[in-house]
Amino acid sequence: MVKIGILGVGTVGTSVAKILEENADIIEARAGKKIVAKSGVVKNLAKDRGVNLKISDNPLDVVDDPEIDIVVELMGGVDEPYALVKKALENGKSVVTANKALLAYHRYELQEIAGDIPLMYEASTAGGIPIIGALRTGLSANHIESIQGIMNGTCNYMLTNMINNGAQYDEILKESQELGYAEADPTFDVGGFDASHKLLILASIAYGIDAKPEDILIEGIENITSTDVDFAKEFGYEIKSLGIAKKVGNAVELRVHATMIPADSMIAKVDGVMNAVTVIGDRVGETMYYGPGAGGDATASAVISDIVDIVRGNQGPMLGYKKGLESGLTLLPKEEISTQYYLRLEVDDQSGVLATITTELGKFGISIEAMLQKPSIVEERAKLLFTTHKCKESEMQEAITALGKLDVVYGEIAMMRIEK
Ligand code: HSE
Repeated sequence: MVKIGILGVGTVGTSVAKILEENADIIEARAGKKIVAKSGVVKNLAKDRGVNLKISDNPLDVVDDPEIDIVVELMGGVDEPYALVKKALENGKSVVTANKALLAYHRYELQEIAGDIPLMYEASTAGGIPIIGALRTGLSANHIESIQGIMNGTCNYMLTNMINNGAQYDEILKESQELGYAEADPTFDVGGFDASHKLLILASIAYGIDAKPEDILIEGIENITSTDVDFAKEFGYEIKSLGIAKKVGNAVELRVHATMIPADSMIAKVDGVMNAVTVIGDRVGETMYYGPGAGGDATASAVISDIVDIVRGNQGPMLGYKKGLESGLTLLPKEEISTQYYLRLEVDDQSGVLATITTELGKFGISIEAMLQKPSIVEERAKLLFTTHKCKESEMQEAITALGKLDVVYGEIAMMRIEK
């Protein structure tokens, strides 16, 4: 019998314990051994979890318990789980973690510490979708050209409901929290940080790139307005928060941000809490993975897949490389990223203003692709909405600063990137 200890018996931990019990027959048949959740660790002992576990508030009751074979880490945070996962590995226990923040900062150190002891993390990225297994194993014959996807269920749930049903931001965020989609601190979701952690994990497997969240371009969905949504609809776009990893020459660009994408693309049709990731390999071509990106049972399904793999003895090297990769790939500096942009400006509604704006953009080599004028709620002002041809991030940032200094421009200039 294999015994499991769970650090953090919240939404996902409770589901892990329940599924191990309720689906014990199929899980035992697939793993070849009986797997039992023995104990769990929580912060608040007073709250009833409704599961059949020996509960403690001391993580060492699991990590140092000689009877526990596999430690499942579902605590969230970085420093405390790092210390506990390290200790569990040093105690010779296999570890399964769903903690993307931990991996975003410490995946290479943990890989080193783990050595031949299994450390698995399928649930860390895109919830119930087996994307880690697909990249580590299914696509191992390929050089990866790009990864692009919806990697945060909360953002997608919010955007879908705001765009399709006119839901209010605060209301729908609260609903995502109640449904168990959002992180303990939901700014991780709406600010793009959660998706960036997942993107970094995928980029390590795809490219062997060791970057931290601070090194890459991350923007949230907080500033999207109904004007942007209307413009997107009028010009045939859908707005999605995407994680993007792309090989550009000898470099890899990594970014997370709200993105306008063609409304007829497959990813544009992925709604609600669903995640979807497209991976292009040099030999396989385009592949796509779709499924629930958050929620107790969906995430627990991925956690248990790792447990089953460990019990079967199937696990490979943590990040997918048996020996060092001499790819020569480096992280593309954020300023060098090149893409198309959408801009929204509030301006004086007077002759010559449009020329002033386009001239200013021209100074930075930025060329307009399409343009729309909408009335402003302020009299004698208008909203100008543009899409541009491709330019560099540095040129766009400099242009926005310069436009913001013009007398005819009012307030913040909104910008969104476009991917076609
Ligand atoms: N808060 C995350 C999301 C949970 O909304 O996608 C899964 O990592």
